[in-house]
Amino acid sequence: MSRKFTIQEFKGRKGTRLVMLTAYDAPTARLAAAAGVDMLLVGDSLGMAVLGYDSTVPVTMEDMLHHAKAARRGAPGAFIVADLPFLSYATVELALGNAARFLKDAGADAVKLEGGAEVVPVVEALVRAGVPVMGHLGLTPQTASALGGFKLQARDEDGGRKLLADARALELAGCWSVVLEMVPAPLAKLVTSRTGIPTIGIGAGPDCDGQVLVYNDLVGISAADFRPKFLKRYAETGEAMRTAIEHYAAEVRDGRYPDEAHSFGMDAGVLRRIENS
Ligand code: KIV
Repeated sequence: MSRKFTIQEFKGRKGTRLVMLTAYDAPTARLAAAAGVDMLLVGDSLGMAVLGYDSTVPVTMEDMLHHAKAARRGAPGAFIVADLPFLSYATVELALGNAARFLKDAGADAVKLEGGAEVVPVVEALVRAGVPVMGHLGLTPQTASALGGFKLQARDEDGGRKLLADARALELAGCWSVVLEMVPAPLAKLVTSRTGIPTIGIGAGPDCDGQVLVYNDLVGISAADFRPKFLKRYAETGEAMRTAIEHYAAEVRDGRYPDEAHSFGMDAGVLRRIENS
C-alpha cells in the first residue's frame, strides 16, 4: 500500500479497480499492505475465519476491537475498515458508541454495516457525526438465515429492484461505498452504473468498482469444503502449512530436530567448571 487514500479520493476512484482484503491480525495486515491492497477490512467474517464459529452472529465488539487494533499495529499506514458486528448498530446510540470505539480506540478509518433502507437512520447519524460508513447489500451474513442461507441474492425482479433502491438509499444517506455480496453480475453492473459511490463486489462479478475477498479463502486456509463459485484460491497455503507441521513433528520424534545448527553452544571451560562444582 503506498499512501492511504482519503474518503474523497476513494469516491473519486469510482470506475477504477479498487482492491480490498480482510485482515484480522498484525502479520496479515502487514503482508496485505506490503502487497499493495488499497484497503483492509477487519470483517466480522473473523467469526468463521479465525474464531471457529459457524456464523458471524456470535462475534462481539470486544472481538472486533481486539483484532482491529492488531491489524492497525501491523499496518500503521493502511486504510482500515472495521465491521460493526451483529446488533452493535441496532440503535443510533449503539452505533455511535461502537463506531467511536473503532475510530478512537482501534484507529480504524471507517466502519461497515449491513442492510439497506432500514439502516438509513443509523447511517445518517454516523455520517452526521463524521464517521465514514461503507454499506453492505446482497448476502448480508449477519442475517443470512433470514435470507435463506449463504446463497445468491436478488435473482428476481423484486429482489433486483430492492437492491438498486437500497444502494441508492445508502448513497443518499451518506455511505462512501457499498459492498455487494453474492448478487448476479449483470445486476451488480447495473447498480454500479446507477450509483455515484464505489461498489465493492464479492461474488458480484467483474463490473463492480472494486473487489474484496476473505484473506483465509484467498490463500487456502479456510475450511476445505468452503468453495463457493466466486472464490478463487490463489494459493494452497493450508497444504504447505500442514506439510511443514508434519515435518516438524517427524523430526522431533526421530531426533533430527533440533540439530547442532539450531542449538546454542557454550564455552567448554565454563561448562567444565560448572560440572566440577
Ligand atoms: O466480514 C467480511 O469479511 C465481509 C466481507 C465478506 C465483505 O463482510
